[in-house]
Amino acid sequence: MKLAVIGCGYVGLVSGACLAEAGHEVIATDNDASKIAALQAGEIPIYEPNLDTVIETVVREGRLQFTANGGEAVRDSDVVFICVGTPPTDSGDADLSAIDSVARMIAQESKSSKLVIEKSTVPAQTGEQLKRALQVYATNPGAKFCVASNPEFLREGTAVKDFFHPDRIVIGVEDEESERQLREIYAPILAGRFRCPVHEPNCPPATTPDFVVTTINSAELIKHASNSFLGLKISYANVLADLCERLGGNVDEVTRAVGLDPRIGGQFLKAGLGFGGFCLPKDIQAFIKLADRAGVDFGLLKEVERVNKQRVDLLLDKLKKALWVMKGKKIGVLGIAFKPNTDDIRLAPAIEVIRRLLAEGCIVRATDPEAMARARTVFPDLAYSADPYEVSLGADALLVLTEWEQFRRLDWKRVRHEMARPLLIDGRNMLRPEEMKALGFEYISFGRPDKPPAEHAR
Ligand code: UGA
Repeated sequence: MKLAVIGCGYVGLVSGACLAEAGHEVIATDNDASKIAALQAGEIPIYEPNLDTVIETVVREGRLQFTANGGEAVRDSDVVFICVGTPPTDSGDADLSAIDSVARMIAQESKSSKLVIEKSTVPAQTGEQLKRALQVYATNPGAKFCVASNPEFLREGTAVKDFFHPDRIVIGVEDEESERQLREIYAPILAGRFRCPVHEPNCPPATTPDFVVTTINSAELIKHASNSFLGLKISYANVLADLCERLGGNVDEVTRAVGLDPRIGGQFLKAGLGFGGFCLPKDIQAFIKLADRAGVDFGLLKEVERVNKQRVDLLLDKLKKALWVMKGKKIGVLGIAFKPNTDDIRLAPAIEVIRRLLAEGCIVRATDPEAMARARTVFPDLAYSADPYEVSLGADALLVLTEWEQFRRLDWKRVRHEMARPLLIDGRNMLRPEEMKALGFEYISFGRPDKPPAEHAR
């Protein structure tokens, strides 16, 4: 089947490349011509593990092409995936202007009927608006449009693995033909008919993911509801961490035991600096707005947002309490990306921490294995180093803001000796308090006491 992918952000690139690997002919386009030129030259504009391998293979084999000509992509395909951004507006609503202009382009360029699929994260009822827009903008009476929703659940940093090995595939459709086409598109993924770059030579045995067919409104709601629930779990764990600090518990012990209940589950209960990135914070904000407009008070999610925003304050309070005076202090920052294995710094808690440190008059030096180039666009004058030991040199405090594996494996004894004062604030609860104390650090994390957790709890 011939597929067009509109929008070469990480969802568009990963979906397009993986669907090409699964045997489809894919033509991907973006209104940023320089991005397309880079992709045509073999450059991948984002850091995403395994994506380069997949793109390189499918481009070489002629199943994935890039074009700056959106009309060409649309005319040559049977199915169009809309993967453009839906950033927040000032009011917190999702900005759907890119979806609207893509709808106009699809409607005007189509010479034959198409299935148009929303993959971008959009509020419920967008599918209805999209359908109406396609009809209104259509210029060719021979072109009829069906609309479907196919929300994406992949995570940055493991996006290729998540695409090939999903927990579930959700499609929101309103007719049988759209369902049939989507089943055909995903059949190779469900049957394991692709070369997986993550698990060579063979993928481990796994259960077949659920293929969930719903209405379009439900599919749209499922996406916002999933991301919001993940944020809710994280904020819950973070409040537990605060309680542990006051009452003398250990949040690692508490969340581990709580998560062993399969009704709760252990994932997304890691306490620390809170969630960032361009998905959870903006989707929660948009979901709250959507609920408000529908006359439903989603106060529960407002609280999730409030707790999350407070995490940066709490980290800075811990730092201030330890340093007393902030002005002129040298602070080393380990990690800028919103999470490991990505170069994405959008709404990363580390960005807010750095901004506030600079406002306090601190002298900041930062490192990140992948995100420094993007960070330079936000803080061009900040001192950066690729070497974490250099970042530690002469520092009055070191902050762990992203839990990259490279940081876990540092020679922490050496780090301690490089520092002017061995104050280590672990915003991601990445290191073991007892080990860091034994090395001579003043070690501070979230919700964990000085003494090691009980032996049986490890
Ligand atoms: C999230 C969802 O997990 C995906 O399912 C979804 O497809 C994606 O948004 C999207 O809408 O496109 P992502 O933003 O890549 O994926 O990152 P997550 O792995 O969800 O992490 C989000 C943030 O939560 C990170 O800042 C991470 O450090 C933080 N986090 C995560 C915690 O603070 N504690 C945890 O226990 C887990």
